[in-house]
Amino acid sequence: MFPSVRHRRLRRTEGIRRLVREVALRPSQLVLPMFAVAGTHTREPVDALPGIARLSPDLMAQEARAVHEAGIGGVLIFGVTDQKDPVGTSAHASDGVVQAAVRAIKAEVPELVVITDVCLCAYTDHGHCGLLDAAGVVDNDLSLPVLARVAVSHAAAGADIVAPSDMMDGRVGAIREGLDAAGYAGTAIMAYSAKYASAFYGPFREAAGSAPGHGDRRGYQMDPPNIREAIREVEQDEAEGADMVMVKPAATYLDVIQAVRGVTDLPVAAYHVSGEFAMIKAAAERGWLDERTAMMETLTAITRAGADIVITYAAVDAAHWIREDSV
Ligand code: PBG
Repeated sequence: MFPSVRHRRLRRTEGIRRLVREVALRPSQLVLPMFAVAGTHTREPVDALPGIARLSPDLMAQEARAVHEAGIGGVLIFGVTDQKDPVGTSAHASDGVVQAAVRAIKAEVPELVVITDVCLCAYTDHGHCGLLDAAGVVDNDLSLPVLARVAVSHAAAGADIVAPSDMMDGRVGAIREGLDAAGYAGTAIMAYSAKYASAFYGPFREAAGSAPGHGDRRGYQMDPPNIREAIREVEQDEAEGADMVMVKPAATYLDVIQAVRGVTDLPVAAYHVSGEFAMIKAAAERGWLDERTAMMETLTAITRAGADIVITYAAVDAAHWIREDSV
């Protein structure tokens, strides 16, 4: 014990600190979310997500090349459109915004891993993640074939991984079956398994134009106080054929990431969501936080909790900072 034991010995120099550092984030673990719109030469910055813009396929392909060159592990594509109807038809159109973006990226950088968000909220006029029944309640079973169709259309466009974020029960199984039947047995599923009904999705909903027109998402997304339920969701998705599972949000759910890590051998992804990113950006803009250290501390904490993959709007900066720090 003290005074012979002194923890500060191993903190004395940067060299020693590096030597005993327990976790380190690699750029290849990072995934950058991107927002696809129709058109050409279109770049629409998102106010609440500094540095992020909605991009037409041509500009997205250019940016994807830069992302790949930064060593980032993959991109996660969301679609933004005004083509909305009650059943989200434009979500599975072969010439839809996501499908066009994926084709453009794959033509430019075939090696970059392309993940697509499978959901209906940006494509339905009511803004819910599934179809509604006569009473205006999201109908789980009615939504499944549509979600499977969306996933198949993404796979057909060239997506490597589809990521269902709708939180319907049974969607992983329905999507696996749909992909296999359509000849896409090689397309992987990253399931948003433990996705909470969070206040931290605000900036994303501005970016994607996907806020629900009535009510909220608490009837399908998870209740924030629950953690045992997250384990049940993960086990269910794994049984239905998920290749990876996700916890979302990330920074406010580190305990959930750690618990999920303990019950599955699948890769675990964690999504540092829009509001979590925006908080750091906004405080940094005011000079209240140092952006780089606050962002890296947060992303590293997510890794320390057990995430293999970190989805973050800061992926490009983080990849750059990691490289600078490792020389
Ligand atoms: C779509 C979806 C959302 C996010 C990812 N997919 C919004 C929501 O569920 O309302 C949020 C991502 C973020 O905030 O960064 N269902």
